[in-house]
Amino acid sequence: MSDSQIWDAVDAYFTAHLTPDDEVTRAALRDSEAAGLPQINVTANQGKLLQLLAQIQGARTILEIGTLGGYSTIWLGRALPADGRLISLEYDPKNAEVAIRNIARAGLDKVVEVRVGAALDSLPQLADENPPPFDLVFIDADKANNARYVEWALRLTSAGSLIVVDNVVRGGRVADVDSSTPDIQGTRAAIELIGTHPRLSGTAVQTVGGKGYDGFALARVLA
Ligand code: SAH
Ligand code: DHB
Ligand code: MG
Repeated sequence: MSDSQIWDAVDAYFTAHLTPDDEVTRAALRDSEAAGLPQINVTANQGKLLQLLAQIQGARTILEIGTLGGYSTIWLGRALPADGRLISLEYDPKNAEVAIRNIARAGLDKVVEVRVGAALDSLPQLADENPPPFDLVFIDADKANNARYVEWALRLTSAGSLIVVDNVVRGGRVADVDSSTPDIQGTRAAIELIGTHPRLSGTAVQTVGGKGYDGFALARVLA
């Protein structure tokens, strides 16, 4: 077996025993695929990790940047109490439409709000509303803007909040100092911001599995 076949087999084993599909998550992926959305959602194991992190946080409010078909949104939304709030920002109205249907089928339409538009437009609007600090921010949109999203996350959170950034490894390309790819440059800027910012304490974990070789950055807001 190649490395990636082993990673897939182990992911399938963990998924079968720890995060089996239910009707709602299965339908969300089925309808996302049927609508032609790219299959770049988190895996079930990763979705469960996000859910556990939100629960460990005791999260009541979550901000997500990058909704796609709402698959990660459903995992995160299920961690919230009935009066919790999740705002998810999505650029593409077609993705948002699919997500809104998936979220409603999950019974999360009272908790989740999808806002359509470029996140760098939606974030200042959101900040103008002076929302209570978000307990968790999941950054998973256009990677070129990752550092900007971490900066916005800092403005919209408070001490003890958790910021999670997806796709920080990208097959190892994050370690390429000379990369001229905006995605990699944006992610490196985010990692270096987390590493140097006085209000952040962070780390990053490399992951393998159904989505290949990638990883998450995790940063706790200190003050
Ligand atoms: N979090 C999802 C996957 C998100 S994929 C999941 O795991 O299920 C990345 C999403 O970010 C795509 O839907 C894409 O349309 C969206 N996106 C890209 N650029 C964006 C931007 N500038 N503002 C908001 N969303 C953006
Ligand atoms: C891509 C985006 C993602 O958020 C992801 O988890 C995997 C791939 C992409 O744009 O290719
Ligand atoms: Mg992602």
